[in-house]
Order: sequence, then structure tokens, then C-alpha cells
Amino acid sequence: MKALIYRAYGSPDVLVLDDVEKPVPSPNDVLIKVRAASVNPYDWHFMRGLPYAVRLIAGLRKPKVTRLGADVAGEVQAVGGNVTQLKPGDAVFGFLSGAAQGAFAEYACAPDSAFARKPDRVTFEQAAAVPIAGLTALQGLRNKGRIQAGQKVLINGASGGVGTFAVQIAKALGAQVTAVCSTRNVEMVRSIGADCVIDYTRDDFTKSADRYDVVLDAVGNHSLTALRRILSPHGILVGVGGTTDPWMTGALSRALQALVLSQFGSRKLVGILAKGNNQDLITIGRWMESGTVTPVIDRRYQLSAVPDAIRYVEEGHARGKVLISF
Ligand SMILES: NC(=O)c1ccc[n+]([C@@H]2O[C@H](COP(=O)([O-])OP(=O)(O)OC[C@H]3O[C@@H](n4cnc5c(N)ncnc54)[C@H](OP(=O)(O)O)[C@@H]3O)[C@@H](O)[C@H]2O)c1
Repeated sequence: MKALIYRAYGSPDVLVLDDVEKPVPSPNDVLIKVRAASVNPYDWHFMRGLPYAVRLIAGLRKPKVTRLGADVAGEVQAVGGNVTQLKPGDAVFGFLSGAAQGAFAEYACAPDSAFARKPDRVTFEQAAAVPIAGLTALQGLRNKGRIQAGQKVLINGASGGVGTFAVQIAKALGAQVTAVCSTRNVEMVRSIGADCVIDYTRDDFTKSADRYDVVLDAVGNHSLTALRRILSPHGILVGVGGTTDPWMTGALSRALQALVLSQFGSRKLVGILAKGNNQDLITIGRWMESGTVTPVIDRRYQLSAVPDAIRYVEEGHARGKVLISF
């Protein structure tokens, strides 16, 4: 089968489209024919082996798993002997991590727990857009932000992969949503449900007098003290992402600062590392089926053009999700 392979860490130039053995499912695995995949910053962190902490998981000198790609949707081709919940022909979507990484390929294989059934009314592309960004938005708002209906929620980075899901999920959970994005994305973000939009090229939301019960920050471009200031008395800041230096000194000192600041007063500053969870995928799938959540799709690339797709995502200005179509 054709698969995107990388044998060394580096720029998108290390990626090659190669012929490799089609995976064989072990007893707990499901083999799928890939119908769509999507790109996340996660992929280029693995591709570059940066920050270096990634190499503790992915391989110190070179990648242990040479396939790339986490978000996938496809059709079940075969299942291992212990798999009872899925059968050949089922349409599924899921998050491929660890040894199962490899969505940028004609076939992918992972434990059945990685997958959820794709609702009939949802396309393979829409389903492939969900896993990392959708799970991060849901787990960030619900598990970490403890979002409640009627609360005021601010999403920084509302036009990106995580942000476009976060705006819609916060609305689905009954919040009043303020979205922060640039001028060109104001209308798009309004169209997915934001009640109020702040254009970051004109206004600095951390200087406003408004206060929020939950702030989901997918950009990390403001100091923690500035973000803490806009929290309501029991507000929670959920840090999702930001720029990382190779040794993560900035990220680690920010995490330490968040811990210290959370000790004083009732406002909390927490981080999130999203986890694969097929129940959460089912929840988002239901919202998609009812039209409550609709993935925003920016661009589509062919499998052979994954390096270009990753280059584009690395620039940091995707509008919603970047898809790999098969
Ligand atoms: N912790 C976790 O588990 C987890 C999971 C997923 C992602 N992440 C991290 O979360 C971050 C976001 O991920 P993503 O998939 O959403 O990335 P993405 O799709 O690449 O996000 C790009 C978006 O960010 C917006 N943006 C850039 N600068 C901005 C600014 N100053 N203010 C507001 N918006 C700005 C861009 O809008 P413009 O073009 O208008 O600037 C663009 O729409 C990344 O750092 C990623 O590594 C973490």
C-alpha cells in the first residue's frame, strides 16, 4: 500500500510517499481502508521531533514508528479475533496514537478502542476533521473548564482547528461565547455560533473590562497574569497550546507559573493534554449528526501532497481543519 513515511526527524522534506506492507490486525485491532485524514500541529511535532520531549515517546535518534498521521476516518476491512463491536464494512473515525500512528496511508490499523462509528449523515471528511481538535475542545471545556450552561466563555484562537470546534461545543453546552480571531475570520466565526467576536488585530481582549467564567486559550500569546485578570472570581483558564521552544523552557515555566497563580484566590489556571476517547468521539458524532456541530474545512490535499498540507498548518493560519482526501 502507499503510505507517507519519515525515517528521520526534520522539515516536511523528510516525508516520502512509499510502498509499504499493508498492516495485519492483531487480536484487538481493526484494519481500516482510509477514506480521509486530517492534519494537526501534533503531526509536525512528531515529524520534527520537537520539542525534544516528543522524542522520549517517538524515538531518541529517529522515529520508531515511521508512519505519520493521527486523525482518520475510513471503512473497516478486517478485525482481530477479540473485536466484537465492529465488523467489516462499518464506517468509523478515530485517533491513531503510538504504534498505531499512520493516518496518512491507504490503510491504517489500531486497537478497536481508538475508533467510534461514523454517523451516516456525517461524511468521511467531516469525521476525519474531528479527533484531536474536537477531543481537545470537548475535554478542555467540559473536563478542565467545567463549563456550565449560561456561563460566559472566551475562546482565543477561535478560527483554528481546536477553536472552531470549541466555539460550537461551548454553544452546544449552553454557554455564551466570545471568540477571538483576526479580521478575515470574523464572519466565519460568527457563522458557527459565536455571540460576540473580538478582532485581535484591533482589540486586545485582555485589556477589556469583560470577565469570563471559562477562557480556552489555543494561542498562548498573552501572559498568564493578563489572562487571569479577565477571569470571573471562580473562573478557569484552560491552556491548550502555544509556541514551544525545543527544550520547552517557556512551556515549563508557564506551567509552573500557572500552578503558583492557582494557589492564590479562587481563579484556576490549568493545562490540558487531550486523550483518545471513543465515548467523546461518539458525543461529538451525535452533535454532528444533529447539525449542532459542523466541522469547518479549510483545504484539501491528496496523499502525495501531505508535505504541503503540513507546511500550511505549520504556518499557523489554517481556518478550521486541513484535510487529506483519498
Ligand atoms: N494540549 C493539547 O492536547 C492540544 C491538542 C491540540 C492542539 N494543541 C495546540 O493548540 C494550538 C492550536 O491548535 P490548532 O489545531 O487549533 O491549530 P491551528 O488550526 O493551526 O490554529 C491556527 C489558527 O490560530 C489562529 N491564530 C494565530 N494567531 C492568533 C492570535 N494571535 N490570536 C488569535 N488567533 C490566532 C489563526 O488565525 P489567523 O490566521 O487569523 O491568525 C488560525 O486560524 C497549537 O499550539 C496546538 O499545538 C494542543
